Amino acid sequence: MAQATYHFPRGFLWGTATAAYQVEGGNTNSTWYAWEEQPGRILNGDRAGLACDWWNGRWREDLRRAADTGQNAHRFSIEWSRIQPAPDRWEEEALDRYLEMLRYMEELGLMPMVTLHHFSDPLWLKDKGGWVSPTVVGYFDAFVKRVVDTLKDYVSLWCTINEPNVFAVMAFMDGVFPPGEKSLSRFYRVCLNLVRAHTAAYRTIHAIQPEARVGLAINYRSMVPARPWFPPDRWITQLQSGVFNDLFPLAAKDGWVRLPLLRRRVPEAKGTQDYIGINYYTRDQVKFSPLRPGEIFSRRFFREDAILSHTGFIANEPEGMWDALKWANRFNLPILVSENGVEDPEDRLRPRYLAEHLHQVWRAANFNWPVKGYFHWTLVDNFEWERGWSQRFGLWELDVETQGRRKRPSADFFAEICRENGISAEMLARYAPEAFEKIFPN
Ligand code: GAL
Repeated sequence: MAQATYHFPRGFLWGTATAAYQVEGGNTNSTWYAWEEQPGRILNGDRAGLACDWWNGRWREDLRRAADTGQNAHRFSIEWSRIQPAPDRWEEEALDRYLEMLRYMEELGLMPMVTLHHFSDPLWLKDKGGWVSPTVVGYFDAFVKRVVDTLKDYVSLWCTINEPNVFAVMAFMDGVFPPGEKSLSRFYRVCLNLVRAHTAAYRTIHAIQPEARVGLAINYRSMVPARPWFPPDRWITQLQSGVFNDLFPLAAKDGWVRLPLLRRRVPEAKGTQDYIGINYYTRDQVKFSPLRPGEIFSRRFFREDAILSHTGFIANEPEGMWDALKWANRFNLPILVSENGVEDPEDRLRPRYLAEHLHQVWRAANFNWPVKGYFHWTLVDNFEWERGWSQRFGLWELDVETQGRRKRPSADFFAEICRENGISAEMLARYAPEAFEKIFPN
């Protein structure tokens, strides 16, 4: 057996990522809470309920689990609706709770990466026009200022907005996230407002904390033409990837928002990212399909022989992680893999998925591309938005009824990787023998 180890650069960040609404429970002032109450919005009528019960204090035991298993970083988000439950009300107590979490993370040796917007808004924002109205920029900025002023002694790595591309598409094109709209013109306005809100937040954070590192986390979807020899497939793939993957980071690079048939300059957005955050999960084959204007004249599907996750949501396509890193490297900025993982209640695919994706991350680091860290999605099974509890992404299994946790084998595998700061052939033989030949070929 090969005796090699793939080592990662010194100081590499190893952690998991979570999001407030998905783990805290009882966020009654959030748009998602109201959304859950509408019949048919969440698969099987699921409710977040207590989620992982973090707001009552279970963050403590879960963060300890993370630290005890070799992780040295953790990405989490701050819930706007808790800090500002009404436009004229600020909850110091809620901020204190996040401070307490941060102090504990410091004690545990977990470097925090803090997200300021992760899909969830305060209910009152809806009455002010939500993300469609330009007033959101000022509201979001005021929230960011409050948070950063309070937490600045503990945090220097900030993510302004998680996956603005997914948020805009799901909430304003597909209509499956609140407010559930399907309107191209609103989608365009929301994209512009997301760019402006990110920009304002970037400047505000730097004004308070000049040394901060601030960026966005983009959901990078690898897309390849289903029939590479067929020009319309190539064209539609490029168009889709351009809108979905490039729009936000390019706007934050050069100040141009490029939407189909509309180019708009937001000059102040230029140069507003200190790193590139990528959330990578899977890859699509894209086919030109003139009869599907609603899906921008395309059909997207997984490769026929790809291995699929439990509910068929994710295809195991590690080469897409390579695409994502190669794409990110074009920005000449430090790169963070801010999310990557798979839904897998039985932990059948996860060890292999983890190994094969990390192998691609290692390849990039070995080319001296500036990859600085990897955050696995996620620590403990959590509430997966419109898919409710049907998908289990945790290194730990959660019994939603009893709040009991059970460690999956992947948690031990990940722990060994974090401690070694690398993946060895021996580890792979124990945890993911099915991936051995590919990663350590003879
Ligand atoms: C991402 C999102 C996370 C999580 C994950 C898995 O798009 O940022 O909140 O839900 O997908 O579904």
